[in-house]
Amino acid sequence: MSKLVVNGGIRLKGEISIDGSKNAILPILAATLLNAGTCVIKNCPQLKDVNIALKILSMVGCKVSFENGIIIVDSSTINSTEIPVDLAAEMRSSIIFLGPMLARCGKVLISFPGGCEIGPRPIDLHLKGLRSMGAKILDAYGGFLYCTAEQLKGYDIHLNYPSVGATENIMLASVFAEGETCIYNAAKEPEIVDLQHFLTAMGVEASGAGTGVITIKGKGVPKRLRDVEYSVIPDRIVAGTYMVASGITGGDVTIKNIIPDHLASVISALREAGCKIKVYGKQLHISGPKRAEAVDIVRTLPYPGFPTDMQAPLVALLATARGTSIVIETVFENRYKHVDELMKMGANITLEGRIAVIKGVEKLKGAFVYARDLRGAASLVLAGLAAEGQTVINDIKHLDRGYEKIEEKLSSLGASVRREV
Ligand code: UD1
Repeated sequence: MSKLVVNGGIRLKGEISIDGSKNAILPILAATLLNAGTCVIKNCPQLKDVNIALKILSMVGCKVSFENGIIIVDSSTINSTEIPVDLAAEMRSSIIFLGPMLARCGKVLISFPGGCEIGPRPIDLHLKGLRSMGAKILDAYGGFLYCTAEQLKGYDIHLNYPSVGATENIMLASVFAEGETCIYNAAKEPEIVDLQHFLTAMGVEASGAGTGVITIKGKGVPKRLRDVEYSVIPDRIVAGTYMVASGITGGDVTIKNIIPDHLASVISALREAGCKIKVYGKQLHISGPKRAEAVDIVRTLPYPGFPTDMQAPLVALLATARGTSIVIETVFENRYKHVDELMKMGANITLEGRIAVIKGVEKLKGAFVYARDLRGAASLVLAGLAAEGQTVINDIKHLDRGYEKIEEKLSSLGASVRREV
């Protein structure tokens, strides 16, 4: 069980460049199944989840390579429609392979994703959307979903929540449908826009991503798209995490290779907390206050609201702020596992259901803590950077799912962080 050892109290200084987005690249990798040809994808982060997605592609017969941030997938050689159960169990979001595999091959066997560290992860919206397009889905197959569709048909699909994964799965399933698919109340996240750009680069007629209505003109048969070369957008959550790292240490950091619009709600919350942020083109500079200020109420929401993935990092910052802040988690019901660990470090946080009341303390103290999920793990690292003394963050496997070489990057900004295996 690897751990990170952080010696806190050092002001971070320097510059850092942000890699490609995990949540953008995963659906794009799934989309490579549609192209019975070659996709070259650039700016790819070296992450555990990306490696699992590549393993899934190679287990279903694709030829895959990953070097120097460039992934090449040749999906002309698919020879299986079964998503390996052990890989699906390692990465809940492997359900994203369902839509494109169904579109390309007309059938899929995939295991039902169970709950995970941040609560139950239902897929009812994915399945309802696919069923309305004509997919037959048997979900009573010993924890497996067996899905078939001779020919999917375009349909008007109304999501009762703008689920990111359901929007992506339906977009991908509709590419070879007969007729047009319209997704109403679609998710508006930048990763959805990136997926649309990737699809249109392959010759799919898709529009509306970034708004609440997405339209895809199904191509019917033959099932073939153009080869494509594509570069993934930078990771807004990783950028936000390093912004908090600067904010929480009273640091002085330039963050390069970002799309500032994607960070608007994070920039606004961090400014309210007393950080000084200047945006220049594709980079920003953030200097942290001596001590952060409390914020009124931050509510996590679908984009363009404050991202649920930034809730845990923000809570770490607010735990050290002057005054009392309120954070309301509206997206996932069980996303406060970092709170108990932060309290071991001296934080004063009261949880009432989805509401966290955070009374800032002057100093956190180093402690022996456990990472329970990806963003919670990031929040403990951030708290450790600000704390007095040494913090040992145990079980950091979650961190490697979403942050590339975090210890090296923080060390390059002057932090004292080392990994112990
Ligand atoms: C994606 C992101 C994740 C982020 C989340 C919300 C990826 C790989 N992961 O996850 O980092 O935190 O968006 O921005 O992109 N829901 C249902 N039924 C469904 C689907 C979802 O009830 O069929 C609920 C979920 O339980 C949750 C909410 O909708 O409460 C949001 O989930 P969703 O937007 O689907 O998140 P993911 O796509 O799983």
